Amino acid sequence: MDFFQYKNGELFCEGVPAEKIAREVGTACYVYSKATFLHHYRQIADAFKPLSATICYSVKSCGNINILKFLAAEGCGFDVTSGGELFRALQAGGEAKKMIYAGVGKTDHEIADGIRAGIAAFNLESEEEIENVDRVAGSIGMKAIGAIRINPDVDPKTHAKTTTGKKETKFGVDIERAERVFEQYRGLKNLRIAGVHTHIGSPVLEIQPYVDAVTKMVALIDRLSEKGHKIEWYDVGGGFGVNYEGPQQARPVTEHAKALVPLLQGKPYKIAFEPGRYIAGNAGILLTRVLYRKQGGEKKFVIVDAGMNDLLRPTLYEAYHHVWPVKPEAKNLNEDRRRDFVIQGGDTVDVVGPICESGDYLAKARALPPVKRGDLLAVFTAGAYGFAMSSNYNNRPRVPEVLVDGDSYKIIRKRETLEDLVALERV
Ligand code: LLP
Repeated sequence: MDFFQYKNGELFCEGVPAEKIAREVGTACYVYSKATFLHHYRQIADAFKPLSATICYSVKSCGNINILKFLAAEGCGFDVTSGGELFRALQAGGEAKKMIYAGVGKTDHEIADGIRAGIAAFNLESEEEIENVDRVAGSIGMKAIGAIRINPDVDPKTHAKTTTGKKETKFGVDIERAERVFEQYRGLKNLRIAGVHTHIGSPVLEIQPYVDAVTKMVALIDRLSEKGHKIEWYDVGGGFGVNYEGPQQARPVTEHAKALVPLLQGKPYKIAFEPGRYIAGNAGILLTRVLYRKQGGEKKFVIVDAGMNDLLRPTLYEAYHHVWPVKPEAKNLNEDRRRDFVIQGGDTVDVVGPICESGDYLAKARALPPVKRGDLLAVFTAGAYGFAMSSNYNNRPRVPEVLVDGDSYKIIRKRETLEDLVALERV
């Protein structure tokens, strides 16, 4: 459920017409709905309340400081994955004690910054990293806390590039090796290892992969406990899928909780989750205007002012994003944003950007209601990994981010200028 809805035939974000934002802010631009962020965060927090779970929003999915601020005010913690994300989360007023720090390649500098900030824990991904965190903590005369990220060898049934919980990905310590690693690093001088972590992939549309991973992990924690390792928390990770293609594509978090809570309730360790996409995905759209239409061979193209530098997911993962006019004719309203909606009139087109690559597209072979030059289109479910993965490729200034709250909106990140593009270059 989100707060992007058609009212009287035109798209609104909460109480604000999308067309008004586009007119005043220009296109392309990202538009976020605060109510949607909060709704999804609260839905997760409520679903896992029986576990008193800590929810650490994954900053990498959509990390504008303004968004982190209102999530922190709700009591949300953060999952960070670089020194930059740690800095950002702290700037937003996030409590270091509710931050966990993952990633296979933390540098000494980043590790020291994390320890000094007082983060809750590092998620440790390899033996060499464990040794290094212990060493870095010692070198600055401080203590670190960590969980070992375990690779449970579970197939999350998602895109190969975002599968992380299967063997032969670079993530975590193989589950078979886990007990040995806990044994080997028992009683380190400067690093206390007291938790376990998993993150199987993203987006995960089904429940079973989580059930499989959690079942394996609960058994592992039992074995570790028998051997005298005190496991204080289990961080289940993120990855809950969202509806890109229509209302029934992903399982709501309440269903995940129904399956997972019984497996985890009453355990003598704390539980954490690290959702990003579930909170941010449907809380953001990308607004873009039609620049031109053209035909190439048999193919029809709609050329818009947003490109793969603004939203990389279609190009990188062949990801589907629903693209629809902000003011469609009544017969083409498609309020549920269904992929299988049968359009009246219109055409099958590629919606492409201005970048000099054939891979620059937002939608391929897509049935689109009739559009013309100047029409405004919305690219839905772009809140997670949309702006976050945008770049300046082709020297395109990054687009602004707008946050709607009820009947008003604020620009929470300005459009970059041409001067910004060269600002760091020294001649
Ligand atoms: N925890 C860890 C350790 C992660 O690596 C990730 C995402 C998350 C949590 C949050 O996952 P989420 O709940 O947002 O699915 N760029 C890709 C997604 C990459 C996800 C990377 N890790 C995309 O656009 O689909």
